[in-house]
Amino acid sequence: MRIDIVSLVPSLFQGAFSHCLIKKAIQQNLLQVYIHDLRSYGLGPRKQVDAYPYGGGSGMVIRIEPVHQCFSKLVRERNYDEIIFMTPDGEMFTQKHAKFFAKKKNIILLCGRYKGIDQRIRDHLISKEISIGHYILSGGELAAAVFVDSVVRLLPGVIHNQNSILTDSFQNETNAIAPPIYTRPSIYQGWKVPEVLLSGNHKKIKNWLQVKSMELNKTLDFTD
Ligand code: ADE
Repeated sequence: MRIDIVSLVPSLFQGAFSHCLIKKAIQQNLLQVYIHDLRSYGLGPRKQVDAYPYGGGSGMVIRIEPVHQCFSKLVRERNYDEIIFMTPDGEMFTQKHAKFFAKKKNIILLCGRYKGIDQRIRDHLISKEISIGHYILSGGELAAAVFVDSVVRLLPGVIHNQNSILTDSFQNETNAIAPPIYTRPSIYQGWKVPEVLLSGNHKKIKNWLQVKSMELNKTLDFTD
């Protein structure tokens, strides 16, 4: 899978993509991530990427020309399945979306900054708009990193034990929340691991895990 990220703050991704699973996926050539500095597509000698909003109002708006130039270059080189704008008013990102995008070959993620982007970019150049939650970040970069992280771990070969993925919260058809998990020691400062998990009775354990998972599903409403 190839992901192209278009951003005005490319350095924000350095840490996010140089560790653990994402680093491994890149090394194994299961994932290619390219970060494009939108500034380099800016206008004139000052590489201008923003302008005042028509009709007044505070804040600067990302212009359409640099974004269009950057997208056009990429689209000339290969076909993209989706061109996604990370925005707080987009579709709420869930595990269902992660599974959907993990099946794609080439994706572009556009990260906003300032007051926003010219609406014509959204109307004519973008295929999907994704939000990672009902709150405003300073830009789309952290949201894009969240997107990449959740999608990459679903790519075949990235996580060796595929069973581990299947038992994650939200991963199965019923959107179930994973039950609590414990490890050694069985007692710490008087806090005990539930006895059934130490019993060795697999049937009882399976039943207990199912009941716990159902209890969590009732208390948390994660329907999407
Ligand atoms: N850009 C700024 N805030 C965002 C959010 N909550 N989700 C996605 N992109 C964003």
